Amino acid sequence: MRTKSKSIDLLILNIISKSTDFRLSKKMKKRKNILQTILSLVTVMVVVVVLQTILFFIQIQHNAQFYQKSNRKELSIRPITSTKEVIGHSPKRILYPQFDLNHVYQNWTDTATLIGSPRETYKRYLTIGMVTAKRPQNTVYLYNTLSSLITNANREDFREIYIVILLSDLDQEWRTNMTSAIVNKYPQEVKNGTIKIIGSFDWMYPSLTNLTHHRKWHSKSKAKWKAKQNIDFVLLWLYVYKTKLSEFYLHLEDDVITVGGYTKAMKTFINDQKGEWTCLEFSELGMIAKLYHTHDLEALAKMVALFYQEQPADNTYLHFNPQMLQFRRIIRKPTLFQHIGMTSSQWGHVQSIKDRFLWQMFKRNYRKG
Ligand SMILES: *[C@@H]1O[C@H](CO)[C@@H](O)[C@H](O)[C@H]1NC(C)=O
Ligand SMILES: *[C@@H]1O[C@H](CO)[C@@H](O)[C@H](O)[C@H]1NC(C)=O
Ligand SMILES: *[C@@H]1O[C@H](CO)[C@@H](O)[C@H](O)[C@H]1NC(C)=O
Ligand SMILES: *[C@@H]1O[C@H](CO)[C@@H](O)[C@H](O)[C@H]1NC(C)=O
Repeated sequence: MRTKSKSIDLLILNIISKSTDFRLSKKMKKRKNILQTILSLVTVMVVVVVLQTILFFIQIQHNAQFYQKSNRKELSIRPITSTKEVIGHSPKRILYPQFDLNHVYQNWTDTATLIGSPRETYKRYLTIGMVTAKRPQNTVYLYNTLSSLITNANREDFREIYIVILLSDLDQEWRTNMTSAIVNKYPQEVKNGTIKIIGSFDWMYPSLTNLTHHRKWHSKSKAKWKAKQNIDFVLLWLYVYKTKLSEFYLHLEDDVITVGGYTKAMKTFINDQKGEWTCLEFSELGMIAKLYHTHDLEALAKMVALFYQEQPADNTYLHFNPQMLQFRRIIRKPTLFQHIGMTSSQWGHVQSIKDRFLWQMFKRNYRKG
């Protein structure tokens, strides 16, 4: 009995030891498997990285070759380097979107300035910019606009404002009339540099043909006017951008009025913005009362110039803002600016705007070639 039980004990022991052996080898195998998997994964990754690097360099070389080739073939558009060259070749047709006025005149902002040297300026809080053109029957709304802007501003804020007026008509007599009228009406504001008057260049305007404005209800003459206006805006914005007049820029038209204390209301609205923004709107209409950071004006100007044939600026800006990662319109309500001629009961409502332009007036004064 005893020996039997001993032998059974032995047998059990034997079995136990064998099974632990078996378990051990199973563990080892498992580890080996994991190691192998990791190794093969690493190999695959290394191969992928090496392949990608090779592809990357091939691409760079390909691109470099492409640019070299296109340089050799002079496919790229040659920048215009001097005024002489501009006048010698075709000053009236600078290829858009190669809208780089610095290539034409180094100091084009001086040349464009009619009243108020940009050199005597210091950086202020806000620039208000507007384009004014000749209207039929010599109607001028600009004076009402200026008067509204000046009388309704908070006194202390007005010291931190520039008003830049672009005279976009090329008629010299009209320009002289306008500048002298403004200087006579606002001698103090002109003297201390608050009001600046600039003029557009005739060579700046492209031919304004082959326009493809998508809006069906735009007549041909309106499309032409809108295209010209695009170029006017571009010059005005580049001027403010280059002279670094201010931190912010507010775009207006020359026939709007505002409300008392608008500067304070704008400042409050700016300061109340929680996140990043590109464009704040103080009117729902067209290209009226859109506020930008001055440092964004160059990009906006170039985008409007790029699509000057296809879109009016008041449509382009709606596409510019999302490109700058502002995906919704930020409109202050109630709005602060309105077209002249609206009664107070209509204040804040969007009303259909009459076509305030007579193409004939522009055509008569627009020199071709
Ligand atoms: C532009 O700069 C050039 C040289 O720096 C100077 O001769 C010329 O008078 C300037 N033009 C204006 C309008 O200031
Ligand atoms: C410029 O003159 C106007 C009118 O006197 C005044 O309201 C404004 O504060 C002045 N601006 C500066 C910067 O002195
Ligand atoms: C300029 O002013 C003069 C004198 O007031 C006027 O006779 C002339 O028609 C004006 N010219 C233009 C283009 O507005
Ligand atoms: C307008 O388009 C026509 C036909 O496509 C072309 O021949 C002409 O050169 C274009 N004009 C301008 C100024 O681009």
